[in-house]
Amino acid sequence: MDFAEARFANIFAAPLVTHVIKDATELNAALRQHILTHQSHNPGVSKSNRGGWHSDVGELEFCGDAGRLIIAHMLGLVEEATRRVFAEFRMPAAPLTWKLYAWANVNRAGDFNKVHVHPASTWSGTYYVDNGEPTDGAAPLHLFDPCPARALTFMPKVVQDSVFVHPKPGLMVLFPSYVPHTVFPHEGTGARISIAFNVRREPFP
Ligand SMILES: [Fe+2]
Repeated sequence: MDFAEARFANIFAAPLVTHVIKDATELNAALRQHILTHQSHNPGVSKSNRGGWHSDVGELEFCGDAGRLIIAHMLGLVEEATRRVFAEFRMPAAPLTWKLYAWANVNRAGDFNKVHVHPASTWSGTYYVDNGEPTDGAAPLHLFDPCPARALTFMPKVVQDSVFVHPKPGLMVLFPSYVPHTVFPHEGTGARISIAFNVRREPFP
């Protein structure tokens, strides 16, 4: 028997989108200054962070023009990623309405984020401002398969159950909000600064 013409498809895939902003040095310096200044007179909130500082949630009002610029990049990447999802399913791109919520994170040595998802959202992502002078590589973002049974029962050690994303300043990462993820403890002498965001398709869901 010849099975060369048998059809093979991977189903239930989840998108992971990464994009590096070129020449982000000046933008990151401005974001860093605004975020650390804001941190100096705000206690922050406690969410998935263990240690570390998590700013209030909004549209980065405390980051001035740099905040507006990075939010425009976030929405641009969401538009591009959504276009590609529609294309995967052979659907024409449709104009959608989005609501964005963003917040800054400052992790110092030992700080981390426990495993979590972002409820009531469509896309979630992170933009990396500063790696915090890591002593042993920047603490990665660790994304888990939302269906853990897949790797446990179907071709273990072949099918991946998780993916690491290694941060660097200027990198933006985007994934569906239902994907569980964690951030490893920061091992570095400086402040590891990132901006996380949720983008929700309106009306939701
Ligand atoms: Fe998160």
